[in-house]
Amino acid sequence: AEVHFHEFIIQETPVKRLCRVHNSITVNGQFPGPTLKVRNGDSLVITAINKAQYNISLHWHGIKQMRNPWADGPEYITQCPIKPGGSYTYRFNIEEQEGTLWWHAHSRWLRATVYGALIIRPPLSSPHYPFPVLPKREFTLLLGEWWDRNPMDVLNMAQFTGAAPNVSDAFTINGQPGDFYRCSSQETLRFLVGSGETVLLRVINSGLNQELFFGVANHKLTVVAADASYTKPFSTNVIMLGPGQTTDVLLTADQPPAHYYMAAHAYNSANAPFDNTTTTAILEYKDAPCVTSQSQARAIPAQLPGFNDTATAAAFTAQMKSPSKVEVPLEVDEDLFFTVGLGLFNCPTPNTQRCQGPNGTRFTASINNVSFVFPKRNSIMQAYYQGTPAGVFTTDFPPVPPTTFDYTGNVSRGLWQPTRGTKAYKLKYKSKVQVILQDTSIVTIENHPMHLHGYEFYVVGTGIGNFNANKDTSSFNLIDPPRRNTIGTPPGGWIAIRFVADNPGVWLMHCHIDAHIFWGLAMVFLVENGEGHLQSVQSPPLDLPQC
Ligand code: C2O
Repeated sequence: AEVHFHEFIIQETPVKRLCRVHNSITVNGQFPGPTLKVRNGDSLVITAINKAQYNISLHWHGIKQMRNPWADGPEYITQCPIKPGGSYTYRFNIEEQEGTLWWHAHSRWLRATVYGALIIRPPLSSPHYPFPVLPKREFTLLLGEWWDRNPMDVLNMAQFTGAAPNVSDAFTINGQPGDFYRCSSQETLRFLVGSGETVLLRVINSGLNQELFFGVANHKLTVVAADASYTKPFSTNVIMLGPGQTTDVLLTADQPPAHYYMAAHAYNSANAPFDNTTTTAILEYKDAPCVTSQSQARAIPAQLPGFNDTATAAAFTAQMKSPSKVEVPLEVDEDLFFTVGLGLFNCPTPNTQRCQGPNGTRFTASINNVSFVFPKRNSIMQAYYQGTPAGVFTTDFPPVPPTTFDYTGNVSRGLWQPTRGTKAYKLKYKSKVQVILQDTSIVTIENHPMHLHGYEFYVVGTGIGNFNANKDTSSFNLIDPPRRNTIGTPPGGWIAIRFVADNPGVWLMHCHIDAHIFWGLAMVFLVENGEGHLQSVQSPPLDLPQC
Protein backbone atom coordinates (compact mmCIF):
# COMPACT_ATOMS: atom_id res chain seq x y z
CA ALA A 1 0.00 0.00 0.00
CA GLU A 2 1.11 3.49 -0.80
CA VAL A 3 0.98 6.78 1.10
CA HIS A 4 -0.08 9.74 -1.03
CA PHE A 5 1.00 13.23 0.03
CA HIS A 6 -0.83 16.29 -1.27
CA GLU A 7 -0.86 20.00 -0.58
CA PHE A 8 -4.23 21.69 -1.06
CA ILE A 9 -3.87 25.44 -1.26
CA ILE A 10 -7.26 27.05 -0.81
CA GLN A 11 -7.20 30.37 -2.60
CA GLU A 12 -9.19 32.84 -4.65
CA THR A 13 -8.85 32.21 -8.38
CA PRO A 14 -10.47 34.03 -11.29
CA VAL A 15 -12.84 31.61 -13.05
CA LYS A 16 -14.71 32.64 -16.21
CA ARG A 17 -18.10 31.06 -16.85
CA LEU A 18 -21.26 32.30 -18.60
CA CYS A 19 -19.32 35.27 -20.03
CA ARG A 20 -18.22 36.60 -16.64
CA VAL A 21 -15.19 36.25 -14.39
CA HIS A 22 -15.71 35.50 -10.70
CA ASN A 23 -13.07 35.27 -8.03
CA SER A 24 -13.88 31.75 -6.91
CA ILE A 25 -12.47 29.78 -4.02
CA THR A 26 -10.47 26.88 -5.47
CA VAL A 27 -7.88 24.29 -4.48
CA ASN A 28 -4.49 24.84 -6.13
CA GLY A 29 -6.12 27.23 -8.60
CA GLN A 30 -8.05 24.35 -10.20
CA PHE A 31 -11.78 24.22 -10.77
CA PRO A 32 -12.96 21.55 -10.12
CA GLY A 33 -10.18 20.69 -7.70
CA PRO A 34 -7.51 17.99 -8.06
CA THR A 35 -8.55 14.36 -8.58
CA LEU A 36 -7.17 12.04 -5.91
CA LYS A 37 -6.30 8.60 -7.32
CA VAL A 38 -5.57 5.86 -4.83
CA ARG A 39 -5.93 2.13 -4.35
CA ASN A 40 -7.84 0.22 -1.72
CA GLY A 41 -5.55 0.00 1.34
CA ASP A 42 -3.57 3.19 0.59
CA SER A 43 -3.27 6.20 2.91
CA LEU A 44 -3.64 9.90 2.24
CA VAL A 45 -1.89 12.82 3.89
CA ILE A 46 -3.38 16.09 2.70
CA THR A 47 -2.24 19.42 4.06
CA ALA A 48 -4.90 22.09 3.57
CA ILE A 49 -3.50 25.61 3.60
CA ASN A 50 -6.13 28.33 3.81
CA LYS A 51 -5.09 31.39 1.81
CA ALA A 52 -8.70 32.48 1.25
CA GLN A 53 -10.80 34.98 3.19
CA TYR A 54 -13.25 32.43 4.59
CA ASN A 55 -13.13 29.85 7.34
CA ILE A 56 -13.11 26.45 5.68
CA SER A 57 -12.82 22.71 6.31
CA LEU A 58 -12.61 19.75 3.93
CA HIS A 59 -14.60 16.51 3.97
CA TRP A 60 -13.73 13.22 2.26
CA HIS A 61 -17.24 12.18 1.34
CA GLY A 62 -17.87 8.48 1.92
CA ILE A 63 -14.52 7.64 3.51
CA LYS A 64 -15.36 5.67 6.65
CA GLN A 65 -12.57 7.22 8.79
CA MET A 66 -12.48 4.17 11.08
CA ARG A 67 -11.69 5.42 14.62
CA ASN A 68 -10.35 8.55 12.99
CA PRO A 69 -13.15 11.14 13.19
CA TRP A 70 -10.64 14.01 13.40
CA ALA A 71 -10.06 13.73 9.66
CA ASP A 72 -13.73 13.73 8.67
CA GLY A 73 -13.98 17.49 8.30
CA PRO A 74 -17.47 18.96 8.80
CA GLU A 75 -16.95 22.27 10.55
CA TYR A 76 -18.03 22.48 14.19
CA ILE A 77 -18.82 18.75 14.16
CA THR A 78 -15.41 17.04 14.14
CA GLN A 79 -13.18 20.10 13.94
CA CYS A 80 -13.29 23.86 14.10
CA PRO A 81 -12.78 25.43 10.68
CA ILE A 82 -9.34 26.30 9.32
CA LYS A 83 -9.10 30.06 9.68
CA PRO A 84 -7.66 32.28 6.96
CA GLY A 85 -3.88 31.89 7.18
CA GLY A 86 -4.20 28.56 9.00
CA SER A 87 -3.62 24.98 7.92
CA TYR A 88 -4.53 21.44 8.91
CA THR A 89 -3.25 18.06 7.75
CA TYR A 90 -5.90 15.41 7.08
CA ARG A 91 -4.48 11.89 7.52
CA PHE A 92 -6.62 8.88 6.70
CA ASN A 93 -6.65 5.36 5.30
CA ILE A 94 -8.73 3.70 2.64
CA GLU A 95 -10.14 0.55 4.21
CA GLU A 96 -12.18 -1.90 2.18
CA GLN A 97 -13.67 0.58 -0.24
CA GLU A 98 -13.42 0.57 -4.03
CA GLY A 99 -15.04 2.79 -6.59
CA THR A 100 -15.76 6.49 -6.76
CA LEU A 101 -15.97 8.98 -3.92
CA TRP A 102 -15.22 12.67 -3.80
CA TRP A 103 -14.10 15.43 -1.48
CA HIS A 104 -15.59 18.84 -0.83
CA ALA A 105 -15.53 21.85 1.47
CA HIS A 106 -17.81 21.31 4.47
CA SER A 107 -18.27 24.96 5.41
CA ARG A 108 -21.45 26.76 4.48
CA TRP A 109 -21.68 26.97 0.66
CA LEU A 110 -17.98 26.87 -0.16
CA ARG A 111 -18.32 23.46 -1.74
CA ALA A 112 -19.95 25.19 -4.72
CA THR A 113 -16.42 25.54 -6.11
CA VAL A 114 -14.25 23.55 -3.67
CA TYR A 115 -14.64 19.92 -4.69
CA GLY A 116 -12.97 17.11 -6.60
CA ALA A 117 -13.04 13.38 -7.29
CA LEU A 118 -11.54 10.65 -5.13
CA ILE A 119 -11.00 7.48 -7.13
CA ILE A 120 -10.25 4.21 -5.37
CA ARG A 121 -8.96 1.40 -7.58
CA PRO A 122 -8.56 -2.22 -6.50
CA PRO A 123 -5.27 -3.05 -4.73
CA LEU A 124 -2.23 -4.07 -6.78
CA SER A 125 -2.45 -7.55 -5.28
CA SER A 126 -5.75 -8.10 -7.15
CA PRO A 127 -5.98 -5.20 -9.59
CA HIS A 128 -9.01 -6.18 -11.67
CA TYR A 129 -12.52 -4.83 -11.46
CA PRO A 130 -15.24 -7.45 -10.93
CA PHE A 131 -17.09 -6.18 -14.00
CA PRO A 132 -18.70 -8.14 -16.86
CA VAL A 133 -16.34 -6.34 -19.28
CA LEU A 134 -13.06 -4.67 -18.35
CA PRO A 135 -13.06 -1.03 -19.45
CA LYS A 136 -10.48 0.23 -21.91
CA ARG A 137 -10.54 3.77 -20.45
CA GLU A 138 -12.04 5.67 -17.55
CA PHE A 139 -13.63 9.10 -17.44
CA THR A 140 -14.67 11.00 -14.33
CA LEU A 141 -17.69 13.29 -14.62
CA LEU A 142 -18.30 15.69 -11.75
CA LEU A 143 -21.78 17.13 -12.18
CA GLY A 144 -21.92 20.53 -10.51
CA GLU A 145 -23.90 23.73 -10.16
CA TRP A 146 -22.66 27.20 -11.04
CA TRP A 147 -23.95 30.54 -9.78
CA ASP A 148 -23.33 33.67 -11.79
CA ARG A 149 -22.62 35.29 -8.40
CA ASN A 150 -20.56 34.50 -5.34
CA PRO A 151 -22.36 31.45 -3.85
CA MET A 152 -21.64 32.76 -0.35
CA ASP A 153 -23.55 35.94 -1.20
CA VAL A 154 -26.48 33.84 -2.43
CA LEU A 155 -26.47 31.94 0.86
CA ASN A 156 -26.09 35.02 3.04
CA MET A 157 -28.90 36.75 1.21
CA ALA A 158 -31.26 33.80 1.76
CA GLN A 159 -30.20 33.56 5.39
CA PHE A 160 -30.93 37.24 5.91
CA THR A 161 -34.29 37.30 4.14
CA GLY A 162 -35.55 33.92 5.32
CA ALA A 163 -36.47 33.10 1.71
CA ALA A 164 -35.28 30.19 -0.38
CA PRO A 165 -31.85 30.85 -1.95
CA ASN A 166 -31.58 31.55 -5.68
CA VAL A 167 -31.33 28.49 -7.87
CA SER A 168 -28.10 27.98 -9.83
CA ASP A 169 -27.52 29.54 -13.24
CA ALA A 170 -25.99 26.47 -14.87
CA PHE A 171 -25.25 22.84 -14.32
CA THR A 172 -21.75 21.78 -15.20
CA ILE A 173 -19.74 18.70 -16.15
CA ASN A 174 -16.22 18.96 -14.72
CA GLY A 175 -16.86 22.66 -14.26
CA GLN A 176 -18.06 23.30 -17.84
CA PRO A 177 -21.69 24.15 -18.64
CA GLY A 178 -21.53 22.96 -22.25
CA ASP A 179 -23.13 23.88 -25.55
CA PHE A 180 -26.50 25.16 -24.34
CA TYR A 181 -25.21 28.07 -22.24
CA ARG A 182 -23.94 31.48 -23.23
CA CYS A 183 -20.17 31.83 -23.86
CA SER A 184 -19.61 28.14 -23.09
CA SER A 185 -19.55 26.03 -26.27
CA GLN A 186 -15.83 26.63 -26.97
CA GLU A 187 -15.05 24.84 -23.72
CA THR A 188 -17.52 21.95 -24.00
CA LEU A 189 -15.73 18.80 -22.87
CA ARG A 190 -15.10 15.99 -25.32
CA PHE A 191 -14.47 12.41 -24.29
CA LEU A 192 -12.83 10.36 -27.03
CA VAL A 193 -13.68 6.69 -27.56
CA GLY A 194 -12.81 4.13 -30.20
CA SER A 195 -15.63 2.19 -31.86
CA GLY A 196 -16.40 -0.97 -29.92
CA GLU A 197 -14.51 0.10 -26.81
CA THR A 198 -16.01 -0.16 -23.36
CA VAL A 199 -15.33 2.75 -21.03
CA LEU A 200 -16.01 3.30 -17.33
CA LEU A 201 -17.79 6.54 -16.45
CA ARG A 202 -17.46 7.63 -12.83
CA VAL A 203 -20.38 9.99 -12.34
CA ILE A 204 -20.55 12.16 -9.23
CA ASN A 205 -23.34 14.56 -8.26
CA SER A 206 -21.31 17.32 -6.64
CA GLY A 207 -24.12 19.84 -7.13
CA LEU A 208 -25.35 21.78 -4.13
CA ASN A 209 -29.09 21.56 -4.29
CA GLN A 210 -30.30 19.45 -7.14
CA GLU A 211 -30.93 15.79 -7.88
CA LEU A 212 -29.92 15.07 -11.47
CA PHE A 213 -30.76 12.72 -14.30
CA PHE A 214 -27.78 11.76 -16.47
CA GLY A 215 -27.70 9.91 -19.76
CA VAL A 216 -25.75 9.53 -23.02
CA ALA A 217 -27.55 9.80 -26.37
CA ASN A 218 -28.40 6.39 -27.92
CA HIS A 219 -26.18 4.50 -25.44
CA LYS A 220 -27.09 2.07 -22.70
CA LEU A 221 -25.34 2.38 -19.35
CA THR A 222 -24.50 -0.63 -17.20
CA VAL A 223 -24.42 0.31 -13.52
CA VAL A 224 -21.57 -1.48 -11.70
CA ALA A 225 -20.97 0.53 -8.51
CA ALA A 226 -22.42 3.30 -6.37
CA ASP A 227 -20.88 5.25 -3.47
CA ALA A 228 -17.71 3.12 -3.70
CA SER A 229 -19.48 -0.22 -3.35
CA TYR A 230 -19.95 -2.63 -6.22
CA THR A 231 -23.48 -3.37 -7.33
CA LYS A 232 -25.14 -6.18 -9.23
CA PRO A 233 -24.76 -4.95 -12.84
CA PHE A 234 -27.90 -3.73 -14.57
CA SER A 235 -28.56 -1.89 -17.77
CA THR A 236 -30.40 1.45 -17.96
CA ASN A 237 -30.91 4.43 -20.28
CA VAL A 238 -30.61 6.98 -17.53
CA ILE A 239 -29.23 7.25 -14.00
CA MET A 240 -30.43 9.53 -11.20
CA LEU A 241 -28.09 10.91 -8.57
CA GLY A 242 -28.84 13.00 -5.52
CA PRO A 243 -26.22 15.49 -4.35
CA GLY A 244 -23.42 13.47 -2.73
CA GLN A 245 -24.10 10.23 -4.59
CA THR A 246 -21.78 8.58 -7.10
CA THR A 247 -22.56 5.95 -9.75
CA ASP A 248 -20.07 4.04 -11.87
CA VAL A 249 -21.35 2.85 -15.24
CA LEU A 250 -19.90 0.96 -18.18
CA LEU A 251 -20.64 2.25 -21.65
CA THR A 252 -19.84 0.38 -24.84
CA ALA A 253 -19.29 2.50 -27.94
CA ASP A 254 -21.53 0.30 -30.08
CA GLN A 255 -23.29 3.01 -32.12
CA PRO A 256 -22.43 4.44 -35.56
CA PRO A 257 -19.33 6.64 -35.26
CA ALA A 258 -20.57 10.17 -34.47
CA HIS A 259 -20.76 12.74 -31.69
CA TYR A 260 -23.24 12.01 -28.90
CA TYR A 261 -24.31 14.30 -26.10
CA MET A 262 -23.74 13.26 -22.51
CA ALA A 263 -26.29 15.33 -20.60
CA ALA A 264 -27.62 16.06 -17.14
CA HIS A 265 -30.61 18.05 -15.96
CA ALA A 266 -32.66 18.43 -12.81
CA TYR A 267 -34.86 15.79 -11.27
CA ASN A 268 -37.13 18.00 -9.22
CA SER A 269 -39.83 16.41 -7.15
CA ALA A 270 -40.69 19.56 -5.21
CA ASN A 271 -43.17 22.12 -6.34
CA ALA A 272 -40.57 24.88 -6.05
CA PRO A 273 -38.48 26.95 -8.46
CA PHE A 274 -35.50 25.07 -9.87
CA ASP A 275 -32.78 25.39 -12.47
CA ASN A 276 -34.28 23.83 -15.62
CA THR A 277 -31.19 24.11 -17.82
CA THR A 278 -29.21 21.17 -19.27
CA THR A 279 -25.46 20.64 -19.13
CA THR A 280 -23.67 18.66 -21.79
CA ALA A 281 -20.36 17.13 -22.75
CA ILE A 282 -19.67 15.13 -25.91
CA LEU A 283 -18.87 11.48 -26.38
CA GLU A 284 -16.83 11.62 -29.54
CA TYR A 285 -16.03 8.53 -31.57
CA LYS A 286 -12.45 8.76 -32.85
CA ASP A 287 -13.55 7.58 -36.28
CA ALA A 288 -16.54 9.94 -36.48
CA PRO A 289 -16.76 11.80 -39.79
CA CYS A 290 -15.21 15.27 -39.69
CA VAL A 291 -17.54 18.18 -39.18
CA THR A 292 -16.73 21.54 -40.63
CA SER A 293 -19.29 24.15 -39.67
CA GLN A 294 -20.52 25.16 -36.20
CA SER A 295 -24.08 24.07 -36.90
CA GLN A 296 -22.93 20.60 -37.99
CA ALA A 297 -20.78 20.27 -34.89
CA ARG A 298 -23.81 19.81 -32.66
CA ALA A 299 -24.02 16.26 -31.36
CA ILE A 300 -26.91 13.80 -31.31
CA PRO A 301 -29.21 14.89 -28.45
CA ALA A 302 -29.70 12.81 -25.30
CA GLN A 303 -33.22 11.99 -24.12
CA LEU A 304 -33.67 12.57 -20.41
CA PRO A 305 -36.82 11.95 -18.33
CA GLY A 306 -39.05 14.88 -17.41
CA PHE A 307 -38.06 16.99 -14.42
CA ASN A 308 -40.78 15.52 -12.20
CA ASP A 309 -40.50 11.92 -13.38
CA THR A 310 -40.52 10.40 -9.90
CA ALA A 311 -41.48 6.98 -11.30
CA THR A 312 -38.27 6.74 -13.35
CA ALA A 313 -36.17 7.94 -10.41
CA ALA A 314 -37.76 5.40 -8.05
CA ALA A 315 -37.50 2.54 -10.57
CA PHE A 316 -33.82 3.29 -11.10
CA THR A 317 -33.06 3.35 -7.37
CA ALA A 318 -35.01 0.13 -6.81
CA GLN A 319 -32.69 -1.78 -9.16
CA MET A 320 -29.62 -1.19 -6.99
CA LYS A 321 -28.49 -4.35 -5.23
CA SER A 322 -25.28 -5.68 -3.77
CA PRO A 323 -23.54 -8.21 -6.06
CA SER A 324 -24.18 -11.07 -3.64
CA LYS A 325 -25.41 -11.84 -0.13
CA VAL A 326 -24.19 -9.28 2.42
CA GLU A 327 -24.10 -9.13 6.22
CA VAL A 328 -27.07 -6.98 7.16
CA PRO A 329 -28.08 -6.87 10.83
CA LEU A 330 -31.16 -9.11 11.00
CA GLU A 331 -32.29 -7.88 14.43
CA VAL A 332 -31.95 -4.30 15.59
CA ASP A 333 -31.03 -2.81 18.98
CA GLU A 334 -31.94 0.73 18.02
CA ASP A 335 -35.18 1.18 16.11
CA LEU A 336 -35.19 4.83 15.10
CA PHE A 337 -37.81 6.77 13.18
CA PHE A 338 -36.78 10.14 11.79
CA THR A 339 -39.07 12.56 10.02
CA VAL A 340 -37.16 14.65 7.52
CA GLY A 341 -38.65 17.68 5.91
CA LEU A 342 -39.03 21.36 5.55
CA GLY A 343 -40.95 23.73 7.79
CA LEU A 344 -41.68 27.38 8.29
CA PHE A 345 -41.01 29.59 11.30
CA ASN A 346 -43.76 32.07 11.96
CA CYS A 347 -42.31 35.52 12.33
CA PRO A 348 -43.42 37.05 15.64
CA THR A 349 -43.93 40.50 14.20
CA PRO A 350 -44.23 40.90 10.46
CA ASN A 351 -40.76 41.83 9.29
CA THR A 352 -40.85 42.23 5.56
CA GLN A 353 -37.07 42.25 5.21
CA ARG A 354 -36.24 39.14 7.18
CA CYS A 355 -39.38 37.07 6.67
CA GLN A 356 -39.68 36.58 2.94
CA GLY A 357 -40.75 32.93 3.10
CA PRO A 358 -44.33 31.96 2.14
CA ASN A 359 -46.92 34.22 3.86
CA GLY A 360 -44.31 36.22 5.75
CA THR A 361 -42.56 33.21 7.34
CA ARG A 362 -38.93 32.04 7.37
CA PHE A 363 -37.90 28.69 5.90
CA THR A 364 -36.61 26.01 8.21
CA ALA A 365 -36.00 22.25 8.08
CA SER A 366 -35.74 19.59 10.73
CA ILE A 367 -35.35 15.96 11.72
CA ASN A 368 -37.93 14.84 14.31
CA ASN A 369 -38.95 18.47 14.63
CA VAL A 370 -35.48 19.55 15.80
CA SER A 371 -33.86 22.11 13.54
CA PHE A 372 -30.11 21.56 13.86
CA VAL A 373 -27.95 24.50 14.91
CA PHE A 374 -24.22 24.21 14.21
CA PRO A 375 -22.21 25.08 17.35
CA LYS A 376 -19.82 28.03 17.21
CA ARG A 377 -17.70 27.78 20.35
CA ASN A 378 -16.16 24.36 19.78
CA SER A 379 -16.58 21.26 17.65
CA ILE A 380 -18.92 18.62 19.05
CA MET A 381 -16.15 16.00 18.73
CA GLN A 382 -13.65 18.01 20.73
CA ALA A 383 -16.20 18.94 23.41
CA TYR A 384 -17.14 15.27 23.67
CA TYR A 385 -13.53 14.13 23.82
CA GLN A 386 -12.72 16.71 26.52
CA GLY A 387 -15.89 15.88 28.44
CA THR A 388 -17.19 19.44 28.18
CA PRO A 389 -20.40 19.32 26.18
CA ALA A 390 -22.03 22.17 28.14
CA GLY A 391 -22.85 25.04 25.83
CA VAL A 392 -21.81 23.03 22.75
CA PHE A 393 -24.35 20.19 22.47
CA THR A 394 -26.85 18.04 24.36
CA THR A 395 -27.59 14.32 23.94
CA ASP A 396 -31.37 14.51 23.99
CA PHE A 397 -32.07 14.10 20.28
CA PRO A 398 -35.47 12.36 20.11
CA PRO A 399 -35.28 8.84 18.56
CA VAL A 400 -38.86 9.13 17.31
CA PRO A 401 -40.94 12.16 16.33
CA PRO A 402 -42.66 14.03 19.18
CA THR A 403 -46.09 13.38 17.67
CA THR A 404 -47.41 10.79 15.27
CA PHE A 405 -49.63 12.05 12.50
CA ASP A 406 -50.26 11.57 8.84
CA TYR A 407 -46.75 12.66 7.78
CA THR A 408 -47.47 12.70 4.09
CA GLY A 409 -51.05 13.98 4.25
CA ASN A 410 -52.33 17.37 5.26
CA VAL A 411 -50.08 18.33 8.14
CA SER A 412 -51.59 20.82 10.56
CA ARG A 413 -49.94 24.19 10.79
CA GLY A 414 -49.11 23.73 14.48
CA LEU A 415 -46.49 21.17 13.44
CA TRP A 416 -44.72 23.56 11.13
CA GLN A 417 -42.55 25.14 13.79
CA PRO A 418 -39.71 22.94 15.02
CA THR A 419 -37.51 23.70 18.01
CA ARG A 420 -33.91 24.69 17.40
CA GLY A 421 -31.04 22.87 19.04
CA THR A 422 -27.66 21.15 18.79
CA LYS A 423 -28.77 17.69 19.80
CA ALA A 424 -26.91 14.40 19.43
CA TYR A 425 -28.20 10.83 19.75
CA LYS A 426 -25.94 8.38 21.61
CA LEU A 427 -25.37 4.95 20.18
CA LYS A 428 -23.74 2.11 22.07
CA TYR A 429 -20.64 0.68 20.45
CA LYS A 430 -21.58 -2.09 18.01
CA SER A 431 -25.32 -1.59 18.45
CA LYS A 432 -27.36 -2.62 15.44
CA VAL A 433 -29.21 0.39 14.17
CA GLN A 434 -32.23 0.80 11.94
CA VAL A 435 -33.35 4.27 10.86
CA ILE A 436 -36.60 4.85 9.02
CA LEU A 437 -36.34 8.17 7.21
CA GLN A 438 -39.83 9.50 6.61
CA ASP A 439 -40.39 12.46 4.31
CA THR A 440 -43.05 14.89 5.49
CA SER A 441 -45.39 16.98 3.40
CA ILE A 442 -44.90 20.09 5.50
CA VAL A 443 -44.41 22.92 2.96
CA THR A 444 -43.74 20.42 0.15
CA ILE A 445 -42.87 16.79 -0.47
CA GLU A 446 -39.35 16.40 -1.72
CA ASN A 447 -36.54 13.91 -2.26
CA HIS A 448 -34.01 14.45 0.53
CA PRO A 449 -30.65 12.77 -0.19
CA MET A 450 -29.60 11.78 3.33
CA HIS A 451 -25.88 11.32 3.99
CA LEU A 452 -24.34 9.64 7.02
CA HIS A 453 -20.72 10.42 7.86
CA GLY A 454 -18.36 7.71 9.14
CA TYR A 455 -20.44 4.81 7.83
CA GLU A 456 -21.80 2.90 4.93
CA PHE A 457 -25.30 1.58 5.49
CA TYR A 458 -27.59 -0.93 3.80
CA VAL A 459 -30.76 0.34 2.20
CA VAL A 460 -33.22 -2.41 3.17
CA GLY A 461 -36.57 -0.97 2.16
CA THR A 462 -38.50 1.94 0.71
CA GLY A 463 -42.08 2.91 0.04
CA ILE A 464 -44.55 5.67 -0.68
CA GLY A 465 -46.78 7.23 2.00
CA ASN A 466 -46.38 6.66 5.73
CA PHE A 467 -44.12 3.84 6.92
CA ASN A 468 -46.13 1.07 8.56
CA ALA A 469 -43.92 -1.19 10.69
CA ASN A 470 -46.38 -4.11 10.76
CA LYS A 471 -46.81 -4.25 7.04
CA ASP A 472 -43.59 -2.86 5.58
CA THR A 473 -40.89 -4.61 7.64
CA SER A 474 -41.75 -8.02 6.16
CA SER A 475 -40.80 -6.84 2.67
CA PHE A 476 -37.30 -5.65 3.65
CA ASN A 477 -34.42 -6.96 1.58
CA LEU A 478 -32.05 -8.46 4.15
CA ILE A 479 -30.20 -10.55 1.56
CA ASP A 480 -28.50 -8.30 -1.01
CA PRO A 481 -29.49 -4.67 -0.30
CA PRO A 482 -27.21 -1.97 -1.75
CA ARG A 483 -24.53 -0.36 0.45
CA ARG A 484 -24.54 3.43 0.27
CA ASN A 485 -23.38 6.53 2.11
CA THR A 486 -26.15 8.76 0.70
CA ILE A 487 -29.72 7.76 -0.12
CA GLY A 488 -32.76 9.74 -1.20
CA THR A 489 -35.82 9.75 1.01
CA PRO A 490 -38.43 9.50 -1.74
CA PRO A 491 -40.86 12.43 -2.06
CA GLY A 492 -43.85 11.66 0.15
CA GLY A 493 -42.35 8.32 1.13
CA TRP A 494 -39.83 6.60 3.38
CA ILE A 495 -36.58 4.68 3.23
CA ALA A 496 -35.13 2.20 5.73
CA ILE A 497 -31.41 1.86 6.44
CA ARG A 498 -29.41 -0.46 8.72
CA PHE A 499 -25.86 -0.37 10.00
CA VAL A 500 -23.75 -1.56 12.92
CA ALA A 501 -22.39 1.30 15.04
CA ASP A 502 -18.81 0.00 14.97
CA ASN A 503 -17.06 3.31 14.33
CA PRO A 504 -16.77 5.40 17.51
CA GLY A 505 -16.87 9.16 17.10
CA VAL A 506 -19.20 12.00 16.29
CA TRP A 507 -20.93 11.60 12.95
CA LEU A 508 -23.15 14.04 11.16
CA MET A 509 -26.23 12.85 9.30
CA HIS A 510 -27.80 15.41 7.01
CA CYS A 511 -29.65 16.17 3.84
CA HIS A 512 -27.03 16.75 1.14
CA ILE A 513 -29.09 19.56 -0.37
CA ASP A 514 -27.09 22.44 1.08
CA ALA A 515 -30.08 24.78 1.16
CA HIS A 516 -31.59 22.31 3.63
CA ILE A 517 -28.52 21.93 5.86
CA PHE A 518 -28.47 25.58 6.77
CA TRP A 519 -32.21 25.39 7.49
CA GLY A 520 -31.40 22.61 9.98
CA LEU A 521 -31.97 19.26 8.23
CA ALA A 522 -29.20 17.53 10.17
CA MET A 523 -28.47 15.64 13.38
CA VAL A 524 -25.49 14.01 15.02
CA PHE A 525 -24.81 10.43 16.12
CA LEU A 526 -22.43 10.10 19.00
CA VAL A 527 -21.05 6.56 18.87
CA GLU A 528 -19.50 5.47 22.14
CA ASN A 529 -15.97 4.17 22.27
CA GLY A 530 -15.89 0.38 22.62
CA GLU A 531 -15.15 -0.38 26.29
CA GLY A 532 -12.29 -2.81 26.58
CA HIS A 533 -11.66 -2.60 22.88
CA LEU A 534 -7.95 -2.76 22.12
CA GLN A 535 -7.87 0.13 19.73
CA SER A 536 -9.73 3.29 20.50
CA VAL A 537 -10.43 6.60 18.83
CA GLN A 538 -7.17 8.25 17.80
CA SER A 539 -6.07 11.24 19.88
CA PRO A 540 -6.74 14.61 18.31
CA PRO A 541 -3.87 15.69 16.07
CA LEU A 542 -1.71 18.54 17.40
CA ASP A 543 -2.61 20.85 14.53
CA LEU A 544 -6.38 20.38 14.95
CA PRO A 545 -7.86 23.83 14.31
CA GLN A 546 -9.21 25.51 17.44
CA CYS A 547 -12.19 27.84 17.56
CU1 C2O B 1 -20.70 15.26 1.31
CU2 C2O B 1 -21.64 16.12 5.16
O1 C2O B 1 -21.12 15.72 3.24
